[in-house]
Amino acid sequence: MTELEKEQKYKQLLKEATALLDGESDMIANMANLAALIHETMGFWWTGFYIVRADKDGAEQLVLGPFQGPIACTRIALGRGVCGTSWQRRETVVVPDVEKFPGHIACSSQSRSEIVVPVFKADKVSAVLDIDSRYLDTFNETDASYLEQIVKLLN
Ligand code: SME
Repeated sequence: MTELEKEQKYKQLLKEATALLDGESDMIANMANLAALIHETMGFWWTGFYIVRADKDGAEQLVLGPFQGPIACTRIALGRGVCGTSWQRRETVVVPDVEKFPGHIACSSQSRSEIVVPVFKADKVSAVLDIDSRYLDTFNETDASYLEQIVKLLN
């Protein structure tokens, strides 16, 4: 896919996502539909959400939420893996080659590159959107910019 094709797909995706979430306030339903829409439109390997949840002692961790693709690990601690790093840094993390990211959590041996985008609620990270590709160097600033706009629709 050329950069121009990617940009066009994301533009359309953003429009469809806006219409899809319009009038629905349930977070899980919206995450499920967003994961499916992004996954199907862009042809990624794994697309899904990890949600920040407190355990019975009040300690927070990321817990697997709605996703599309093969089964995945269920819990990720703050600062661990790409997801925990994005949560801790409160910013999008683009990983061109997962083997070169120290601490990367390999849920699937097929995953070669990854992007994780934080979802904010009242200035706190409430979840992350995690996307894996079977190819190296899939994600760049275009993905980051559109995916950040798309997850804002969850508010
Ligand atoms: N690779 C992620 C773990 C989640 S799976 O990719 C679905 C990470 O390092 O945080």
